[in-house]
Amino acid sequence: MNIKIEQRKRVVIITLNRPKALNALNSELMREMVSVMQKLDKDPSVGCFVITGSKKAFAAGADIKEMENKSYMDMFHEDYFAAWEAFTAIRTPKIAAVSGYALGGGCELAMMCDIIYASNTAKFGQPEIKLGVIPGIGGTQRLTKMVGKTKAMDLILTGRLMNAEEAERSGLVSRIIPVETLLEESVEAAAIIASYSKTTAMVAREAIDRAMELSLREGVLYERRAFHALFATEHQKEGMQAFVEKRKANFSIP
Ligand code: CAA
Repeated sequence: MNIKIEQRKRVVIITLNRPKALNALNSELMREMVSVMQKLDKDPSVGCFVITGSKKAFAAGADIKEMENKSYMDMFHEDYFAAWEAFTAIRTPKIAAVSGYALGGGCELAMMCDIIYASNTAKFGQPEIKLGVIPGIGGTQRLTKMVGKTKAMDLILTGRLMNAEEAERSGLVSRIIPVETLLEESVEAAAIIASYSKTTAMVAREAIDRAMELSLREGVLYERRAFHALFATEHQKEGMQAFVEKRKANFSIP
């Protein structure tokens, strides 16, 4: 296996584990990760994923050695990288806990998660231009939406790396956490998310993702309808009753 899986109550930690290749994302790793996550996605007792790597590297990119000798026809017919769509289709919230290098596909993997927490040692970049290619797992699209056109152009055209402070300032990273406590603090945040209704969390993240794609008017309408739909759930009843009765809500599974 190219990943390690650990469950802590309702949180599942997935650790990329190809240390000799700085967690370069080959097809096998991607298939293993997606297949494990697809199963757990359906499990009501799993409320949040934390995806992490090592101190040195979250992931140093897609596997260059796997791609090096491929032809256009190989890439086209394999529809290389299309399988990552299955990762984005996972509906359980996903936190990327990034320490060290998050480059190319590594940065793109972090951006396919819902939240990015970075250690003070994190370095983000899309250096594909140095290899004669461009980002291929959504980098030109998601990075531009997340940090804006001019910063995305700067990073993708120069291939330079961005440290954690710049990444936080740019809106790519939601918090910087000391490297020693990155995983623990990420798991704590994941446990908070997992303590709420999984249904509500799934609806919330889907609504936020719509903001990346819809006009404000359509997005607000989508949100309002999703808000209305939650009134069909026991979790809305429990959450609001608990507030009125001045007790802690119990969002029992599912
Ligand atoms: N693919 C395959 N192997 C990789 C890799 C990658 N993306 N990144 C690192 N490795 C391997 C190295 O080849 C090396 O293996 P060997 O010991 O067998 O030579 C091992 O990991 C350690 O790497 P380095 O010796 O280079 O370590 P370093 O500390 O000197 O440098 C680094 C670290 C700056 C991250 C450097 O490894 C590097 O530049 N890596 C490539 C980064 C990159 O270009 N990423 C983009 C990949 S393309 C892509 O991701 C396309 C896309 O959009 C999806």
